[in-house]
Amino acid sequence: MTDVRCPMVDAIIASVSIGVIIVAAGKGERLGGSVPKQLLDLGGRTLLQRSVGSFDDCPGLTAMVVVLPAELVGNGAALVGPTKHPCRCVAGGARRQDSVRVGLEALPPDVPIVLVHDAARPFANLPLIDRVVAATAITGAAVPAVPARDTVKRARIDRLEVETTIPREVIWLAQTPQGFRREVLDAAVRLGATGVAATDEAMLAELAGHPVAIVPGDEGNVKITTRDDLDTARRRLSGVPRVGTGYDLHRLAPGRALVLAGIRLPSEFGPLGHSDGDVVCHALTDAILGAAGAGDIGGHFPNTDVRWKDAAGVDLLARAVGIAAAHGWRPSSADVTVILERPKVSPHVAAIRTALASVLGLEVSDVSVKGKTNEGVDAVGRGEAIAAHAVAVLVGLAR
Ligand code: CTP
Ligand code: MG
Repeated sequence: MTDVRCPMVDAIIASVSIGVIIVAAGKGERLGGSVPKQLLDLGGRTLLQRSVGSFDDCPGLTAMVVVLPAELVGNGAALVGPTKHPCRCVAGGARRQDSVRVGLEALPPDVPIVLVHDAARPFANLPLIDRVVAATAITGAAVPAVPARDTVKRARIDRLEVETTIPREVIWLAQTPQGFRREVLDAAVRLGATGVAATDEAMLAELAGHPVAIVPGDEGNVKITTRDDLDTARRRLSGVPRVGTGYDLHRLAPGRALVLAGIRLPSEFGPLGHSDGDVVCHALTDAILGAAGAGDIGGHFPNTDVRWKDAAGVDLLARAVGIAAAHGWRPSSADVTVILERPKVSPHVAAIRTALASVLGLEVSDVSVKGKTNEGVDAVGRGEAIAAHAVAVLVGLAR
């Protein structure tokens, strides 16, 4: 992963002229319907218009080419709408790489850095673009990418059977915009023209022997491929928040650490079991996953898997926030009730709220934590267990 910011890099970026190719010539077959997906409405603007708009405030951008299906080029200016930068519309080719080639031919020759972006990614943002440009200026080619979350299997080509498990640490999911120094993209496109097929230009640059840097992508920068992706994106922009609830209980045993949101409370008793028994984090993790419609803690982090058996609750909570982001949601507030006979939770509420706010990316005022006893009733009341209830409110990641 490349992170290359320094005053010299900033000076290079400030002075360099950038061109962007927005590829929008696909048919959107996997989404279906009579209108190509890039022309569908997403919260008042089309995917194409949002993708073009992502570059509105990009410093150094001097030229933009939008590659459209041939039959729509005549109407290109209206489809793209008002732009802050000079914009040409040209007719694309049969494959994405063909569309990129014609887009590159239409860019002014004096643009030294070229970004290639999918019209099907309407949520790119300026910090992301800036990271790509910075790494491109230094290394010649850069892709934004996010780490794989799931265990990755390679299947046999002839039947659905696992051939091998690929270490997840080396798997990155590539996004756009991808950045290239002009000569690197020229070489990549030349290679593509020789019959090499590729699903992105970074792949052609790699095959042409050029190193391609990875910069942090953005979980919200999703590609709209299926009808489900479009529905999720529309919900993100609807402004309607989502609510999830969570609950957790652990038995208490003498000599165990009592940890809530990663904060250790003075106690002779603590939760029993393999994990740290952090009921606050476990309940809130379920609330967040529930609000995102993304399953539950047991499904994502089964304690039968050695990776999660001893995992800290705050780590699982942070991962749940990442999973929610991948579904297009971010926390906007949370409320947790801890039910514990002793010790008292109230002296630790401020520390627990601060810890949770940091993991959730919220202000402390958006996170509430309350302690209660069970009035001596049941196992919790007898001091044999600790429980927590949580509610999380999520809002869409991008507007
Ligand atoms: N694209 C393009 N020219 C092509 C094929 C694709 O400009 N011949 C563009 C698409 O418009 C999209 C981006 O490349 O913005 C990424 O491609 P993809 O998500 O695969 O879109 P489609 O090819 O339109 O969808 P599908 O594969 O489902 O038909
Ligand atoms: Mg396609």
